[in-house]
Amino acid sequence: MTLRKILSERKSVREFKEKKVPIDELRKILLNKDHRDDIVQNTELEVYLLEDGDWAYDVLNGMAGYNGHMVKAPHYALFMSNNIENHQIQTGYYAESLMVLLAEEEIDSCWLNIPQDGELVKTALGIEDPREAAALIAIGYKKWDKRVINPIDTGANYSKADLKQVDDNVTSRLKAEEIVFVEDWGKNPSWDDLKNMGLENVFYYVRMAPSTLNRQPWRFLLRNKKIYLTIRMDENLNHEYDLLEAGIMMFYMEQIMSAYSLQGKWTLLEESGKDFGIPEDYFVAGHFSM
Ligand SMILES: Cc1cc2nc3c(=O)[nH]c(=O)nc-3n(C[C@H](O)[C@H](O)[C@H](O)COP(=O)(O)O)c2cc1C
Repeated sequence: MTLRKILSERKSVREFKEKKVPIDELRKILLNKDHRDDIVQNTELEVYLLEDGDWAYDVLNGMAGYNGHMVKAPHYALFMSNNIENHQIQTGYYAESLMVLLAEEEIDSCWLNIPQDGELVKTALGIEDPREAAALIAIGYKKWDKRVINPIDTGANYSKADLKQVDDNVTSRLKAEEIVFVEDWGKNPSWDDLKNMGLENVFYYVRMAPSTLNRQPWRFLLRNKKIYLTIRMDENLNHEYDLLEAGIMMFYMEQIMSAYSLQGKWTLLEESGKDFGIPEDYFVAGHFSM
C-alpha cells in the first residue's frame, strides 16, 4: 500500500477486536530500530511494547486518553525518550512512522494522551527507566470495517468524507489552501497557485495527519524557497502536543515530498521566523528546504 493510500484511508481506531496481533509481527515492527531516522539526536527513543492490553488498560484507565478515557485495545506501545530539547518532535516523527508500518500490515492504531507527569504512567506500569514517558498508542485490529463507496485517488476534494465514504468516525480536514500561506502570513494560495508550484498533492495529503482533538494546528509558510512549519499553541493544551504534532507532520511531509521526487530535509528551529509576522500563538517548528 502506498503512503498516499494509507494517508487517505487512515483514521484513529477506538474500537478494536479482541483478537490479538501476532506478537512476533508486532515485535518485528516496533522493536526494530533499523528504520529509525533521527531528526533530533540523543533521544535514545525506545518502545516498550505492552503485550497484555487487558492489564495495561486496567492500569492506565483514568490516567491516559482524553480525560482519562482509555481506548481498550489488545496491545499498546509506550515511547520512552531522553528528556532533551525537542525530544517530542522525534517521538511524534518516529511513532507515526511506526503507525504507518503497522498500517501497511493492516494493523490499526490510535494515539493516546498521557499526563504531563509521565512518571505517573511509568509508576503505574512498574517501569524503571530514567527516560521520560513521551507517547502512548493503542494497537490492534479495528472492529468496524470501512465501507468504501467512492474511491478517488486524488483531486481537489477536501473532506475525507468526500474522498472516501466510510461508515464510522469520519473526521473532516481543512482545505490544502487553508493551511498554506505564500510569502506573507495570512496570504492563502489558490488551488491553482499550489498546482503551479507543484505542491498541491503534497498539501492535499499531509493535512490528513492526526492531531489532538483534530485541531489541525499546522500552518505552512512558503517563503525564501523554504517551507516553514508553524504549529498553533492552543490554550489548555500542553506544549508537548504541539511538538508531537510537529514531528508527525515532519514525517508525512518528508515522505510525501519524496513520493513526488521532491527530496529535502528538515531543519529544526526554535526562535527564528519571528520576523515573518507569525502570530504569537504559533511557533516555528522547523523549515523544509529542497
Ligand atoms: C498527539 C495525539 C494525541 C491523541 N490523543 C488521543 C486520545 O487520547 N484519545 C483519542 O481517542 N484520540 C486521540 N488522538 C487522535 C485524534 O483525536 C485524531 O487524530 C483526530 O481526531 C483526527 O481523527 P483521525 O485520526 O481519525 O483522522 C490523538 C492524536 C494525537 C496526534
